[in-house]
Amino acid sequence: MPKNRKNKKINRRINLSLFHNIKIFLKFRLMISRINYALKYSKYVLLSKHKKGHGIHSPFIFKLIKDVFNKKEVGATLKKTISANKFYKKSDELIVFNDLGAGSKFKVKNNLRLGNIIKQSGVPQRYGKLLFDLVQFVNPTTILELGTSVGISTSYIGSAAPNSKFTTVDASKSKLDKAQEITKRLDLSNIQFINEDFDTVLDKILLEINKLDFVFFDGNHKKEPTLKYFYACIDKAHNDSVFIFDDIHWSQEMETAWNEIKRNPKVRVSIDIFRMGIIFFRSELSYQHYVIKF
Ligand SMILES: C[S@@+](CC[C@H](N)C(=O)[O-])C[C@H]1O[C@@H](n2cnc3c(N)ncnc32)[C@H](O)[C@@H]1O
Repeated sequence: MPKNRKNKKINRRINLSLFHNIKIFLKFRLMISRINYALKYSKYVLLSKHKKGHGIHSPFIFKLIKDVFNKKEVGATLKKTISANKFYKKSDELIVFNDLGAGSKFKVKNNLRLGNIIKQSGVPQRYGKLLFDLVQFVNPTTILELGTSVGISTSYIGSAAPNSKFTTVDASKSKLDKAQEITKRLDLSNIQFINEDFDTVLDKILLEINKLDFVFFDGNHKKEPTLKYFYACIDKAHNDSVFIFDDIHWSQEMETAWNEIKRNPKVRVSIDIFRMGIIFFRSELSYQHYVIKF
């Protein structure tokens, strides 16, 4: 065999085995991170409490647990939102997008079926209901969401506060287009969709808003960006504001970010429900960190 062909063959074999080893390494890393996540969840299940409000002395937090966390009723508006989301969850329409940030533990692809996007990164129904009930409890007039995707959380938040000034941001145009379609189906006309990178647009948005009543942080799940967005938004927070962070235990970076957020002196109460972290600024509350079974 000529020397050139032999060398090419050897090179191809080396490349193939390198590729194979990288694939094994990535699979192994994914497996370790899933085991880690499962361990963290088991710890949460063992250590979390207050499901029925027992041991809570603050009347405000007790009411929150009773009226939001333990609320069973599903009214007509929420039913309509859930059924619209279920409809889109079955869709196999192909969405082509550019993803920014750390968004998924799954294989990163730039095209996915709509139903799969919802299953992989949309808030599950249980947490959607929680967002809906929490928004109704807080009754916000200004809402900001960072990370619209195809609009699942947007639809729960938006339908709970149809008269609010609600701004939602995502860098992916195709996902945002779908979110607009979903919220239009729910007759929500108060939502401003902004198709930009948080890093370039957040300061601009905050300049035009004098206060933030409710913020949902659900994009770019890394430590530095999460803290940067939090510190930018906290300037517009007031006594009754509520901030929610998704995926607080999703990675070590998010864990570190959540620990820094809840220790901020302006934060009076933090509630960890594993998937999400909720913070309150009410000066009448004593400093407390709850881990609540949800
Ligand atoms: C986890 S998904 C949001 C899911 C959505 N809240 C829902 O429940 O359907 C995160 C989204 O954040 C967006 N994103 C991540 N980093 C971003 C950035 N720096 N600027 C704008 N959008 C970003 C991604 O495009 C992605 O759609």
